[in-house]
Amino acid sequence: CDIREYKFNVVMSNITRLCSTKPTPTINGLFPGPTIYAREDDTVLVKVVNHVNYNISIHWHGVRQLRTGWADGPAYITQCPIQPGQTYVYNFTLTGQRGTLLWHAHILWLRATIHGAIVILPKLGVPYPFANPHKEEVIILGEWWKSDVEEVINEAMFTGLAPNVSDAHTINGHPGPVSNCLSQGGFNLAVVKGKTYLLRIINAALNEDLFFKIAGHKLTVVEVDAAYTKPFQTETIVIAPGQTTSALLSADLGSGKFLMAASPFMDSPITVDNITATATLHYSGTQSSTATTLTSLPPRNATPVAENFTDSLRSLNSQNYPCKVPLVTDHSLLFTVGFGLEDCKTCIKGLRVVADFNNVTFSMPEMALLQAHFFNISGVFTDDFPGHPKIPYNYTSIVQPTNMRTMKGTRVYRLAYNSTVQLVLQDTGMLVPETHPIHLHGFNFFVIGNGLGNFDPQKDSKNFNLVDPVERNTIGVPSGGWVAIRFRADNPGVWFMHCHLEVHTTWGLKMAFLVDNGKGPNESLLPPPSDLPKC
Ligand code: C2O
Repeated sequence: CDIREYKFNVVMSNITRLCSTKPTPTINGLFPGPTIYAREDDTVLVKVVNHVNYNISIHWHGVRQLRTGWADGPAYITQCPIQPGQTYVYNFTLTGQRGTLLWHAHILWLRATIHGAIVILPKLGVPYPFANPHKEEVIILGEWWKSDVEEVINEAMFTGLAPNVSDAHTINGHPGPVSNCLSQGGFNLAVVKGKTYLLRIINAALNEDLFFKIAGHKLTVVEVDAAYTKPFQTETIVIAPGQTTSALLSADLGSGKFLMAASPFMDSPITVDNITATATLHYSGTQSSTATTLTSLPPRNATPVAENFTDSLRSLNSQNYPCKVPLVTDHSLLFTVGFGLEDCKTCIKGLRVVADFNNVTFSMPEMALLQAHFFNISGVFTDDFPGHPKIPYNYTSIVQPTNMRTMKGTRVYRLAYNSTVQLVLQDTGMLVPETHPIHLHGFNFFVIGNGLGNFDPQKDSKNFNLVDPVERNTIGVPSGGWVAIRFRADNPGVWFMHCHLEVHTTWGLKMAFLVDNGKGPNESLLPPPSDLPKC
């Protein structure tokens, strides 16, 4: 196995999009940031040097960080942030993982522009479980605000209103041609007739699930969140923030130029955003008239398209890549996922929306939970996170309860080493039902079932897929419905779980699991590196 070394300088760079330039936080001046290339089982060392005047931390989204929680990255969960002028080396091994992941800033809203791809190739000499592509391309979908992104959320928190939606979506950093603003050259994918391409598609947007489509071409999904899937063909990719999808593209149309587009998928009536990012696919050596074949995109609220895509995903479950879904579980948990209200003096209505799991709105600690855990520092968190709603209710009813206040707390849910967990994530109708892409750090989980309405343990668990459920790290809880996941708590440490819509995380839709050490020689959290930042 190799050691892959990278240097990430956090710097302010002037970046121009939509005909306006703003000082933008970036890594090495790039937006999107540099791609990390490695092979399964390689060790990655990323030296992050903070040259800006605010705190930073970087998360390697989907990297399991087996026993190396210190390198996971969420600020105040596994580390104190890297302060201005300071350096921290993230040191981790890509144990048993191959595919596409992403890295991103994990503090405030800095991941808007501080993000990039992680490409993990199979071990040397190990083939893909699909025909070798002619070429591979990373395709990062994102969002762009003309204004300072921190100001967008600060203003929303101050007024109690929803934050402004972005001014554009982007494909590899570019919105594509925009009226009133001459194109700054959108992304173009050059292809050769008859060849196959592996597209590593990443949703790095802050707040939006996206549809992705290429005119005239179908895509064959082969991997999501760095786990192989049974190949399936689709016209549209549906991808939530934090998710990745690798798909094969056969360049079999022969000539011309085709439009590629990313547009929002939103089933909530509250936010309205119809902006589409475009790019092109161009057959090399063929005439490219300016006209491109238009692709018809699903409408913003095309829930059936999203459901159809999600339900088609299955683990590859082959001899080489067996599906390791736990068949029995030690913990059977149900977390409601939804909104509530809190008093707010500066807010226009005297109230602000908060978000919660099981009615607990997470308060960020002032010291990293992992440090408090490792060094036995009391008073930082409590381990009484509720495994079920205190009083069960009709979760998806649209009749609003009179009391929408949530509890505050820095609570974790404790798991014994190697115990198995079944977790049902249940959306609620409080304020508004909405799709929530929930991301769990430190583990891959198996998505064993989903449905609309209230989860019914008797009826619904009979239909769980315990044969080839898809394995991933981020899953959408359907609007007005539920999703059930299972995982094995074989990674000691403190592991964040939160909604990957950044606005919901800010509102408190986050919690952490604490996994105790096991008794065996390789079953405990490693000690922290000497350069671990201090608070
Ligand atoms: Cu990709 Cu905790 O986030």
